[in-house]
Amino acid sequence: MPFQRKNIATMGGYVPGEQVDNDDVIKLNTNENPYPPSPEVAARLKGINSASLRRYPSPTAEPFRESAARCHGIAAENIVPTNGGDELLRLVLTTFAGPGETVAVTRPTYSLYRVLTEIQDNKLHEITLEDTWDLPKEFIQQLSVSNAKVCILVNPHAPTGKLLSVEALTEIASNFDGLLLVDEAYVDFVDLARKHDAVPMAIEHNNVLLLRTLSKGYSLAGLRFGYGIGSAELISPILYKTRDSYNTDYIAQQLADAAIQSRDYARAIWQKVREDRELLADALTKLNFAVTPSQANFLLAKLPDGRSAESLYLQLRSENILVRFFDQERLRDKLRISVGTPSENAALIAALTAKFVCTTE
Ligand SMILES: Cc1ncc(COP(=O)(O)O)c(C=O)c1O
Repeated sequence: MPFQRKNIATMGGYVPGEQVDNDDVIKLNTNENPYPPSPEVAARLKGINSASLRRYPSPTAEPFRESAARCHGIAAENIVPTNGGDELLRLVLTTFAGPGETVAVTRPTYSLYRVLTEIQDNKLHEITLEDTWDLPKEFIQQLSVSNAKVCILVNPHAPTGKLLSVEALTEIASNFDGLLLVDEAYVDFVDLARKHDAVPMAIEHNNVLLLRTLSKGYSLAGLRFGYGIGSAELISPILYKTRDSYNTDYIAQQLADAAIQSRDYARAIWQKVREDRELLADALTKLNFAVTPSQANFLLAKLPDGRSAESLYLQLRSENILVRFFDQERLRDKLRISVGTPSENAALIAALTAKFVCTTE
């Protein structure tokens, strides 16, 4: 392929989780929300007049920006709407990390980060997590030695669901010369008792951006809508320079606006997912899986007795239950399981019980 840039020719590309168009499949592999979007989203969709599509949408997705700003108690200048959270990741690298400059991430982490750095021709610096999946004690020191322009931390962490406190994030941001992007794709599912809210610290620091998405908490993965939160100084170059002129479409803007205004509906769903996450973790633990306590809408579960995670993944798949297997160091003996509806979780547990519990009859 002589026309590709060298870095594109040699890179692998992102491999997304399997998508299926079959209602019989229990889909616990890509951390989608098991509940439908809010009735207000459905009503807004029904009310869209196709004649409105004749015109270009609002370039900056007003009034979504205004609604999101109200929801977080910040100003519209602190928000940049994007075509899914993934577009924000790409835009952050385009805006803040030039070719050859270093981007720091943890190992393991969301695998798209690596792919985006390969596209952008950045250097990738990976900082290995402890056995407990915590950041190493010398994380800040390693970050400063790496000379990274951008550090991306996913919080709650994927694929483990571990949460870093706002205090820990603040300490990292305050001791880092580059830009800290905190990917909060799963933050809606954090237990309320943690009182976790990184928004005020992101606004106060001129080197912190947060990623939010409507894909998970608002059941809108098919819509492709996310946004960044940060100081106006950081948001402005993304919003007015590097973003595509019309990066979010009219229908997505309308539905995202309806979703972020139906917070009561969303909050009720988040609570159900949290409760079912704990029930699912207990059921897996009873089957002798080692489950990492999670603050997200998924669980990372290590199989009992050194059994092969890949073959269990394949067995479940043949029974129309999809979970995620990562062919990566430290993950090959584990499965990542999204929290489904109570009946989906029960079906998974029944399938696992049939495989893992020996009956004497
Ligand atoms: C850690 C993490 N960040 C960001 C995203 C991006 O989500 P989206 O582009 O659907 O908003 C995902 C999606 O799975 C994710 O797992």
